[in-house]
Amino acid sequence: MPETTTIKLSFCTGNPHKVAEVQAAFAQKLPGYVIEQQKIPLQELQADTLEEIAIFKLQSISQHLRPPFFIEDAGFFVDDVLRGFPGVYSHYVMDTLGCEGILKLLGDSSNRKAHFEAVIALMDNDNIIHTFKGVNQGTVSLEARGTSGFGFDPVFISDDTPGKTFAEIGMDAKNRISHRSRALEKLIEFYRR
Ligand code: IMP
Repeated sequence: MPETTTIKLSFCTGNPHKVAEVQAAFAQKLPGYVIEQQKIPLQELQADTLEEIAIFKLQSISQHLRPPFFIEDAGFFVDDVLRGFPGVYSHYVMDTLGCEGILKLLGDSSNRKAHFEAVIALMDNDNIIHTFKGVNQGTVSLEARGTSGFGFDPVFISDDTPGKTFAEIGMDAKNRISHRSRALEKLIEFYRR
């Protein structure tokens, strides 16, 4: 019987939903890779881009863990009217203003362009950092709708699913088109080469 080798990749996150999503994608597209969750407490850093935050986190993780390992950071960006806000502050803004706060800030503006962005940052076996970005473009709805998902899902209508918010299309449909799944696709492609 040929021996099957497995390659271990650590995913540093406290979020079990993200781990399940990444494990399912690897199991389907790149069996042989085992994704292991690592819970490493991380210092939060304020910076202008998700990439900068992700790279800072990787460097601090490297003091505790041997590569390869990766992390994922995401945010919601209201493009023109709020000039990208909440962006890197999404987590904090979700906890304070929530979806209703974003709707209030936008008022009845006709320009409601927004996007979700996810960055996966990987430190490979040779300590080299790679980043993979996934984006989903859309608009902010006029009111919060839907019950599935989390965060800003009830107020985001993807251009890929017109008329329905991320919270209305269901998790499976969202996972097929989300910013996170697009970043993940690029990570899997990197290991497929
Ligand atoms: P995180 O880096 O994935 O934890 O994302 C930071 C914040 O961005 C979250 O607390 C959410 O408010 C928001 N966010 C990120 N991804 C999503 C998503 O897929 N749907 C809705 N909100 C999201």
